Amino acid sequence: MFFPNQIAKGLFAILATIFLTAYSHAGNDAQHATPQQSTMPAMDVYKSPYCGCCEKWIAHIEKNGFKATAHNMDDLSALKQEKGILPKYQSCHTAISKDGFVFEGHVPAKYIQKFLKEKPENAIGLSAPGMPGGSAGMEGSPFTPFNVLLLKNDGSSEVYAHIKTQEEQY
Ligand code: CU
Ligand code: CU
Repeated sequence: MFFPNQIAKGLFAILATIFLTAYSHAGNDAQHATPQQSTMPAMDVYKSPYCGCCEKWIAHIEKNGFKATAHNMDDLSALKQEKGILPKYQSCHTAISKDGFVFEGHVPAKYIQKFLKEKPENAIGLSAPGMPGGSAGMEGSPFTPFNVLLLKNDGSSEVYAHIKTQEEQY
């Protein structure tokens, strides 16, 4: 009667060790995942549910470290107007950063990162008006040189970047 009891105690100790080891490993994994996620800049992307190039642009910014949340809307004109994006600056989708800056259309991720670092005075965001061929998310059509515009809060704009070759936007 002495022996089985010892064995039972031994088994219990082994099982407890396995359980605690597994549990502490799970805890470590969770700790590792958290800081990485919190440093990814969040971006809300408002788009039409039928827009394929919008999806490709979202994939492009996610590949470059943004955490995008897509919102499908049938009519984006009220949102664009409310955000001060004049018709001449408009494109297929409107992305809005956590601090309220707008990124209209196929703006390459690296210019968004530059903008968010610099936060230029009197600026509301960036735009790539229309749908420039070969821009980020528009790789399916032939490249044409295009401008990324800096949108000012008085409705004016200036050239933020002139993209001459497809490669330089990445
Ligand atoms: Cu598009
Ligand atoms: Cu789009």
